[in-house]
Amino acid sequence: MVTPIKYQSVQEGDDVLLRLREDYEQAVLELFAEDPEAQKVHPRLSAVGHTSNFLNNMRLPVHRWFRYSAGFSAEWVKWLLAERDGSDLRVVDPFVGSGTTCLACDEMAVPSFGIEAHPFVYRVAEAKLSYATHPELFISKAEKAFAFARKATARTEHYPEIIGKCYGVETLDYLDRFRQAVEAEQDGSSEARLLWMALVSSLRVVSEAGTAPWQYVLPGRRKTVPPSPEITLHKATQMIAADIRFMARRATPLAKLHVDDARKCVTVPDGWATLVITSPPYANNYDYADATRLEMAFMGEIRGWGDLQETVRRHLVRACSQHVPPKSVNLDEVLASPELAPIRDEIVPVCRELSSVRLERGGKKTYNNMIACYFFDLAQTWKALRRVCASPSEVCFVIGDSAPYGVYVPVIEWFGKLALAAGFESWTFEKLRDRNIKWKNRKHRVPLCEGHLWVRG
Ligand SMILES: C[S@@+](CC[C@H](N)C(=O)[O-])C[C@H]1O[C@@H](n2cnc3c(N)ncnc32)[C@H](O)[C@@H]1O
Repeated sequence: MVTPIKYQSVQEGDDVLLRLREDYEQAVLELFAEDPEAQKVHPRLSAVGHTSNFLNNMRLPVHRWFRYSAGFSAEWVKWLLAERDGSDLRVVDPFVGSGTTCLACDEMAVPSFGIEAHPFVYRVAEAKLSYATHPELFISKAEKAFAFARKATARTEHYPEIIGKCYGVETLDYLDRFRQAVEAEQDGSSEARLLWMALVSSLRVVSEAGTAPWQYVLPGRRKTVPPSPEITLHKATQMIAADIRFMARRATPLAKLHVDDARKCVTVPDGWATLVITSPPYANNYDYADATRLEMAFMGEIRGWGDLQETVRRHLVRACSQHVPPKSVNLDEVLASPELAPIRDEIVPVCRELSSVRLERGGKKTYNNMIACYFFDLAQTWKALRRVCASPSEVCFVIGDSAPYGVYVPVIEWFGKLALAAGFESWTFEKLRDRNIKWKNRKHRVPLCEGHLWVRG
């Protein structure tokens, strides 16, 4: 029997908080230290080098609650903001994901809008932006949930297959009782959101099957000693309580978060933003819908992979082949659309080549459809950004190019052209690093890179 942890003991200045603060300060020190890789790119250490390569959000309070493909670090966002005149800064992130940009803006007292179309990831961002909750209210909610879970009767028959692969009988028994408790405590309050977060952030930790750092479940790999769910959940609630104490003292809750579509940005007023900071999905076949399959299956939001299309994927920019099966897209029609006019001469031959290459490959992946639809969707996004941005304003996309089936797609140049066609005035690209990781095993050696696309006007 696990002895319940006394949350009241997590006071300002105690060990947990001190360790956290040291960790945070160390992380910040490292960020600003001389970094040879950053020096190579720029003679002077400046914001350009500091994306997710150089600092891990998982070491930062609140940011560390959920591991996600963030695209960049919160400290880099803060650096960008610090470099600018704060009095006139208004930031939009149209692909806000788990909320890095908005949290960083709150830390710098800069107003921001965050847009996310993935409903589950939106809830994660919403929970993280609930850091202004009174810690004692959260702690008392968590204690009620632990008490409820102790008395509840587990009902585990209904869980989908993936859950059976991840958890043994005892672990699932406790997780189910705690899930019932979390559901019973949902009353629309911010402390209820944090309690949901505590459960969600524990699910991969206690999985007996291997879980890739932030992605898919690996049922073939087993962890030798998975931690106890009760202890893990106590630790998660302690961490959240400590982090909200820490964050509430340094941040101002100004961010506005919306479930919305970056291709429209309907929730952001015309001309509102002076700065856009974002990392859109790359055209690299990563499936954001699948990234939260374990969590959504456990929380009863999907039964399996097949439900992801309806619940998540259909809301997202089309950046993976699962999103665009052969008969779902009229390729000629997409390529002839006015949205793609600024890049039509270049994108048509690329998609035609992909249409023929795919037939020679075993997987027959529909990268032809994916590339056409991706740029169609991003062309709409550039138009939406033009509407929500003041004149002048700055847009920074953390982005890389792509080579599905070894066919090079000049994402950066095409984005630049789409941005100009949408009404922006200029674009430049700051390369941060070379890469060819994603496609390396697929028999091509096309050199790729990643960096900051700056659009102005
Ligand atoms: C690279 S991630 C951004 C991660 C983010 N920087 C963070 O801190 O977590 C891209 C995000 O875009 C979201 N997305 C995809 N299509 C979208 C759309 N049409 N509108 C808004 N968000 C979308 C994905 O769900 C994903 O969370």
